[in-house]
Amino acid sequence: MPSATVIGLQWGDEGKGKVIDALAREAQLVVRYQGGANAGHTVHADGKKYIFHLVPTGVLWPGVRSVIGPGVVVDAPALVGEIEELATQKVDVMKTLLVSDRAHVVFPYHKALDEAREGGRGGGKIGTTKRGIGPCYSDKSSRIGIRIVDLYDDRRFGELLRRNLDEKNAILKHLYGRAPLEFDPIREQYAEAATRLRSIVGDGPALVQQALAKGERVLFEGAQGAMLDLDHGTYPYVTSSSTLTDGVSAGAGVPPTASGRSLGVLKAYTTRVGEGPFPTEIPGEQGQKLREAGGEYGATTGRPRRTGWLDLVQLHYAVELSGTQALVLTKLDVLAGMGPLKVCVAYECRGKRIDRVPADIQMLEECRPVYEELPGFEGPIDKASFEKFPENAKRYIDYVEKKLGVSMSYISTGPERDAFIRRGAPQWP
Ligand code: GDP
Ligand code: IMO
Ligand code: MG
Repeated sequence: MPSATVIGLQWGDEGKGKVIDALAREAQLVVRYQGGANAGHTVHADGKKYIFHLVPTGVLWPGVRSVIGPGVVVDAPALVGEIEELATQKVDVMKTLLVSDRAHVVFPYHKALDEAREGGRGGGKIGTTKRGIGPCYSDKSSRIGIRIVDLYDDRRFGELLRRNLDEKNAILKHLYGRAPLEFDPIREQYAEAATRLRSIVGDGPALVQQALAKGERVLFEGAQGAMLDLDHGTYPYVTSSSTLTDGVSAGAGVPPTASGRSLGVLKAYTTRVGEGPFPTEIPGEQGQKLREAGGEYGATTGRPRRTGWLDLVQLHYAVELSGTQALVLTKLDVLAGMGPLKVCVAYECRGKRIDRVPADIQMLEECRPVYEELPGFEGPIDKASFEKFPENAKRYIDYVEKKLGVSMSYISTGPERDAFIRRGAPQWP
């Protein structure tokens, strides 16, 4: 089956956008299946920079269609804004994008609740993107959510919005001491967004199924990363959706077998935005040096990303969970000149050496990395030829590949489109 799923193997921002764009060149359809506008996927193409939040990456290539699956939570006005922004960059997605009518909608009260919870938690905050993701998925699970399709039935939309707003305003006011939100402006704003989106709303899964049946190349675009998965990540410091291959089936409306080849994207080092344990985090100046070299600032919130060494314990877990069949390494160029390279091979925790990510979050917080050290290399890294890489860069790749037991099929050597190397036979993906 010519389909593939691109999964981030760390805590997000692995460079999925860059990878999806590169692979989409030879695809017909790109499908987002989870998450929402918390994602920030960056593509540098033809001297321009694009950041995708809700619109699937890959739409920059002519002829590539895209679907926002029913598993995505859609901030409708934000989507309209993103489509308009793309139009100013001469990218028209109004003829190529389909938004699933079953997708749930993110409302201002979700964002207000997200913010209020983050503000009120003191030391326990998660460090969310404040895009309303958690509260929207909560409503979906509680069966009180509002779906895209509901926006097109005035009466039903009005009733659902009223009921939700009454409940959320009570919480915002009495629990968090926040100002209540008004009904009319929200209703108007969302009715307007619905009108703007009307021609591109429909049965997303049907389109995906048709493409698969025709043997088209379908790319499923993961957002966030393995360690932010709701079930398997570093709970509660996670996002509220299934970020792994298992999310594809429910989130895109296809059978589990349809997700195809599982491609795992990993950065040559690790980053994390927001709170939560991060065993290989590099404190102080060296962490800052890596942050600056890699331009590690959030694509959605602009927050500085925490930086650390590669963590094979965490990666092994992620590879296992997502059934990774091929690895894609990004940002190898950033490690040039960083001195000896540390790689975490186990954790020391409460007097024991462990090689699995513990479920107990306090325990993970106490885990200390056991490092092996590899010699560093100097730049610049050749953008197009693996053979021309410094020997120690090749050694690093070889080491990671062997430790994870999966071949490194692609290597990204810079943010630009052409800085992407395929190793092995020229087949898709
Ligand atoms: P995503 O959320 O996984 O799509 O990743 P982000 O777009 O949030 O962050 C990745 C950043 O690294 C973006 O600014 C990319 O342009 C950049 N990037 C991607 N691949 C490479 C690479 O191989 N080298 C360098 N230097 N930058 C890269
Ligand atoms: P992409 O797709 C990195 C993180 C937030 C926070 C946690 C929960 O660009 O890789 P949420 O707003 O989802 O409730 O926040 O998840 N987070 C991300 N970190 N990249 C992302 O997306 C992220 N999306 C959410 O920082 O720690
Ligand atoms: Mg990102």
